[in-house]
Amino acid sequence: MSSLVDSLATLVASARAAVAASQSLAELEILSAELLGKKSVLATSQKSLASLTPEERKSAGASVHETRQILESLLADKRTALEGVALAAKLESEALDLGDVVVGSVRLPVQAGSPGIVALTQVALEDVFVGMGFEVADGPEIETDWYNFEALNIPPAHPARGMWDTFYVDLGEPETVLLRTHTSPTQIHLMREAVRNNSLPIHAVMPGRCFRRDTPDARHLAAFHQIEGLVVDEGITFADLAGVIENFTREYFGPDITSRLRPAYFPFTEPSAEFEITCTICRGDGCRTCSHTGWIELGGCGMVDPAVFAAVGIDAERYSGFAFGFGIDRCAQMRHQIADMRALTENDVRFLRRFS
Ligand code: PHE
Repeated sequence: MSSLVDSLATLVASARAAVAASQSLAELEILSAELLGKKSVLATSQKSLASLTPEERKSAGASVHETRQILESLLADKRTALEGVALAAKLESEALDLGDVVVGSVRLPVQAGSPGIVALTQVALEDVFVGMGFEVADGPEIETDWYNFEALNIPPAHPARGMWDTFYVDLGEPETVLLRTHTSPTQIHLMREAVRNNSLPIHAVMPGRCFRRDTPDARHLAAFHQIEGLVVDEGITFADLAGVIENFTREYFGPDITSRLRPAYFPFTEPSAEFEITCTICRGDGCRTCSHTGWIELGGCGMVDPAVFAAVGIDAERYSGFAFGFGIDRCAQMRHQIADMRALTENDVRFLRRFS
């Protein structure tokens, strides 16, 4: 009986060493069979219990049981450890090294890209307007004539169409589908949606890409970006518009840059104005960029024309509103003193790095 307990103690000691020494899961499975299988010392010990007196069998049985538990837990712990090692080795061998690009036989470090200055400017502008309580909305770049012109009080053959040289898309009847020439059609989408959902008022800005058949020069691109603003509510006045423009100007360009509104004409606003800001190059003293006026034109604005409200089905007796629209690229140009706007589309890395 005591020899049984001794041999179990020896078994545990040698098993502990053997388990610790095993190097792989396959080796461990063989060892497991040796330690716990039918021909194992443990199995033999179990059988030998039969020849003991009931008294002896009780405590010897407990020793056998305890030994089995020790062996099983030694094996289980080792199995977990070896599985971890195997997984780490597998991950290591299958890992893809994304840190290098192989060009021919030369390894080059990856140069991560970053958003360009127009995208960064758009986000900065959105932030300013969101801070003033506006929501940000989106609209399609391809529009029908109705959204881009007619609903904005610019009927076919209206002379004001000359303000926007238009790229038409070859779809449907000639000159019915086009690349939007400004973000103003998004106003129409928002107003129609608000009427449909009975969800007036509207306080939204709508940034996006626009297209005009213009020859690119230092201050114009054929594909450019605008941000449109629209407020429709009860009791909105021109003073609200002027306040929003001035607030925005100081917030975005800094406290020493201010705005002014000059009478202008747009078919969809009445009265209409052009809004100008202090020239950021000369800070108002007059320079070549601002044609020695000290002011730079940023965009257009005005009170929503009742004809536009009629086109979308808003009651102009109850609601009034204002709208504005200006160039995001122009803003970036003014804020970062970019002499020639064409730099925005040339992808010269020396220019791109200035803003990364
Ligand atoms: N959509 C006009 C343009 O692109 C700008 C504008 C927007 C004017 C909103 C008035 C109101 O020229």
